[in-house]
Amino acid sequence: MSCEKDAPQVTLDLMRETDLPEILAIENESFPLPWTAAMFRKELNNANAQCLTARVNFGPKSVLGAYIIFWLVADEAHLHNLAVKKEFRRQSLAFHLLKVMQEIARKVGIRAQTLEVRPSNTAAIKLYEKCGFVVKGIRPLYYPETHEDALIMWADVKPR
Ligand SMILES: CC(C)(COP(=O)(O)OP(=O)(O)OC[C@H]1O[C@@H](n2cnc3c(N)ncnc32)[C@H](O)[C@@H]1OP(=O)(O)O)[C@@H](O)C(=O)NCCC(=O)NCCS
Repeated sequence: MSCEKDAPQVTLDLMRETDLPEILAIENESFPLPWTAAMFRKELNNANAQCLTARVNFGPKSVLGAYIIFWLVADEAHLHNLAVKKEFRRQSLAFHLLKVMQEIARKVGIRAQTLEVRPSNTAAIKLYEKCGFVVKGIRPLYYPETHEDALIMWADVKPR
């Protein structure tokens, strides 16, 4: 994973079962209705799912800083989960993980990317807009716990 100037040294890796304690800590600080360990395990065993982590390196030690889960199905890359540990936010980790999603989609010939996001999640919407996503629809009451609709965003997978 390439990093910008002044960004921490970051290693991209496949998500593993042993990452779950760190992932669940990030998940719990990030979402009002966090995924459970069982939900992550289901994704780790889903052949359509790509589950990746970004580890921030401090010498020989590393901390799990962010993760992304997306599906490659029906000619679409569909984002299912993305979160960054609070202390590493605004350091381009999410931006780079979304670039990796696009790169993997491009390599398998997928031309479109999609995701759902809460209208109240300004940080995420700004991130997705920076990555070329635009709002194309609404999924009513997609988030039952807060009675929120979801914005449906789409982006083309850009050719190289
Ligand atoms: C949304 C989230 C994933 C962003 O991760 P991040 O690594 O901090 O984002 P990046 O540093 O890659 O930011 C890229 C761009 O997104 C936008 N952005 C990110 N966080 C922002 C914030 N708090 N306010 C405004 N814009 C923001 C900016 O345009 C930013 O570019 P800039 O830094 O050059 O201004 C992170 O805040 C998070 O984990 N939130 C909780 C979980 C969540 O909401 N996930 C998305 C579910 S749909």
